[in-house]
Amino acid sequence: MLEKIKATASFIKEKINDNPEIGIILGTGLGGLVKEIEIIQSIPYSEIPNFPVSTVDGHAGRLIYGKLGDKKVLAMQGRFHFYEGYSMKEVTFPVRVLKYVGIKNLFVSNASGGLNPGWQVGEIVLITDHINFFPEHPLRGKNENELGPRFPDMSKCYDERLRNKAKLIALQHNISVKEGVYVGVSGPTFETPAEYKMFRLLGADIVGMSTVPEVIVARHMDLKVFGISIVTDSGVPGEIVEISHEEVQEVAMKAEPKMTLIMKELVKSI
Ligand code: HPA
Repeated sequence: MLEKIKATASFIKEKINDNPEIGIILGTGLGGLVKEIEIIQSIPYSEIPNFPVSTVDGHAGRLIYGKLGDKKVLAMQGRFHFYEGYSMKEVTFPVRVLKYVGIKNLFVSNASGGLNPGWQVGEIVLITDHINFFPEHPLRGKNENELGPRFPDMSKCYDERLRNKAKLIALQHNISVKEGVYVGVSGPTFETPAEYKMFRLLGADIVGMSTVPEVIVARHMDLKVFGISIVTDSGVPGEIVEISHEEVQEVAMKAEPKMTLIMKELVKSI
C-alpha cells in the first residue's frame, strides 16, 4: 500500500510541481468552493494512478490544484463513500496520498441529518468530535509505522484552533454556527426514526455517511483536521419527514455560500 501511495503522490507532485499545505474534501455543500478556486490544474480521478473512481450523483471526480485566496490548495471534488462499495482502504487512499504530496491540514465538509432538537434544517455545524459507527475500521490490518502508530490517539481529532478561527470568521460575517458531534454511518439508507433516536441517545448531534474514515486516517498521520457540516434534514422525533438525495442536495446548496465563505476565510488564515 505504501508503494502505491508514494507512486500516486509522486504522480501528483510531478504534475503540480508544488507542495500545498491544505487539502480540502469538497463534500455536499461545498461544491461552490470550486468556483472560488483559481484553478491551476484539474486532474480527473480517472487519470490518477491507483485512485478509485467516484460514482455518486453530484460528486464529479477530480483533483483540483489552485489558489484559494492567496493560498495554494489541493481540493478533492468528489469523495469515495463506503456505501458505494469501496473498501475502507479505497475510501481513505486519497487522504494518504495528499499527506505524501505534502499537506498539513485537511478540511472536510459533508451533509448530515440533524439529531439535536434545538437545531434547524440548514444549520451549519462545526464538528467537534465523532462517533465511528462504520462496520469496518480503516486502520484494521497491518499497521504501516511510517504512516502512524498502531494505536492512534483520537482525543483531539478536530483541531480546536482551526475551529476557534472558524467560529470567529462566522461571527464576523454574521453567520450562525453550531458545534457538535458527528456520528458516521455506512448508509446508504437514511435512518429510521428509531435509529435517529438511538444516535441521539448515543451522544451525537448530527449523522452522516462520510468523513469519519477520512478523519481517522488523517489523524493517524497527524494531519490537522477541520470538519464542517450542513444539516439537510431532521432526525428529531416529531420533525422527521420523507427525504431524498435530491432534497439533501437542495438544502445543502442553499447553505453553500455561507459554508464557502467560512472555508475560504479559514484557508486565508492558515
Ligand atoms: N442521515 C445520514 N446521512 C445523511 C443524512 C441523514 O439524515 N442527511 C444527509 N446525509
